[in-house]
Amino acid sequence: TARDAVGGNIELAWAALRDEAAGCTRCPLYKPATQTVFGEGPVDAQLMFVGEQPGDQEDLAGRPFVGPAGQVFDRAIAEAGIDRTAVYVTNAVKHFKFEQRGKRRIHSKPGAGEIEACRWWIDQERMLVKPAVTVALGATAARSLFGRVVTIGRERGRALELPDGGGEAWITVHPSFLLRLPDEAARAAEYARFVEDLRVAAARVG
Ligand code: URA
Repeated sequence: TARDAVGGNIELAWAALRDEAAGCTRCPLYKPATQTVFGEGPVDAQLMFVGEQPGDQEDLAGRPFVGPAGQVFDRAIAEAGIDRTAVYVTNAVKHFKFEQRGKRRIHSKPGAGEIEACRWWIDQERMLVKPAVTVALGATAARSLFGRVVTIGRERGRALELPDGGGEAWITVHPSFLLRLPDEAARAAEYARFVEDLRVAAARVG
């Protein structure tokens, strides 16, 4: 594994993994995307957040969750009492998948094949970081982590066990889901529920 390759130095192993991922051609998404958006955060983080894939702004910045969904994420974790600099934040898929419409790049959902191809990277991130608790933000992250289709409504709000011995996992909605809700009252209610999910998951870390 990446960890063995550098004699157990996890920081070095992580940097090597990130550099290797920068040249990833495991699926076709690397061609139109600007760059690989790898995970970020301390390699000894106890809490890991997994999103879907980088969006337009993340693709340009090379960092996860810095665009509109990232702003919701930042506000929600802060309200849940979580320090972003202390947690590891990554995505199930590491290249932006989009459709070009004029000058705009419109997000497309990653498919099963892309999630599968990219699991190579997230599995190695998880093996290095070994978080006590992993939070799946939305169905794509949950699908990647559990290797099956997951219904968020049925599985959110309780501690789950990752199938590969990777510790505890919690499933909640993706922050983009909140941005898409047209009704303001519904959005406020769903946002509060999201914050509560994050608070409960974070409280599981010793
Ligand atoms: N949405 C995600 O799932 N991840 C990001 O990094 C940005 C938006």
